[in-house]
Amino acid sequence: MIVNERCTAYINSLNSGNTPFLNEIEKSARQTWVPIIRKETQTLLKFLLAEHKPGTILEIGAAVGFSAILMAQYSDASITTIENYDVRIPIAKENFEKSGFKDRIKLLEGNAEEILPALTESYDMIFIDAAKAQYPYYLEEAKRLLKKGGLLVADNCLQDGDVFESKFAVNRRNRTIHKRMRDFLYSITHDADFSASVLPVGDGVTLAVRI
Ligand SMILES: C[S@@+](CC[C@H](N)C(=O)[O-])C[C@H]1O[C@@H](n2cnc3c(N)ncnc32)[C@H](O)[C@@H]1O
Repeated sequence: MIVNERCTAYINSLNSGNTPFLNEIEKSARQTWVPIIRKETQTLLKFLLAEHKPGTILEIGAAVGFSAILMAQYSDASITTIENYDVRIPIAKENFEKSGFKDRIKLLEGNAEEILPALTESYDMIFIDAAKAQYPYYLEEAKRLLKKGGLLVADNCLQDGDVFESKFAVNRRNRTIHKRMRDFLYSITHDADFSASVLPVGDGVTLAVRI
């Protein structure tokens, strides 16, 4: 938890809720330890969708489809989402089918590192929420694939606070992620082609507009 727990609990108590189907997926995901965006990140995403009105969205990291369905629910966008975990892919497909948004959500099955270089379309919004150690690489691809004026959103950028701790306070297993995430944050905040802001929302969210 990056922000004081009481503050987060209070902000989340103001959350006006989602559709019953999204609630169902969220509940099942939490019960089965599938990592999905936190409540406060959901609220931020809904706000961004209302403000930015993307026509096309690329998501890296679908899991069981919760955030893709949320983005379809709260925008008119066509969404392309990528997932490589074979256990989650059939669940995501079933959820897309049941959501009623199957025609607006395309699932690309496989490793993002192999799929991204083959994409040629430009997107109005890109949501990065997959392998944390790959964020510097996703940034390079996002820069190539995002339209000018497009919005980049990246979740889990502060890694429950590990990212702003000394590397010696981070366990060995997480040090690579810690370093790569710091590299990502430095790159995006110092790239003249982006205007970026790192927010302590949820697990840390970076917002950036492609200039
Ligand atoms: C945090 S979860 C995504 C949650 C989802 N965005 C949501 O909020 O509903 C990250 C997902 O990215 C997937 N992933 C990790 N590395 C990947 C890669 N290299 N290519 C494709 N998917 C990947 C994982 O299997 C996992 O399901």
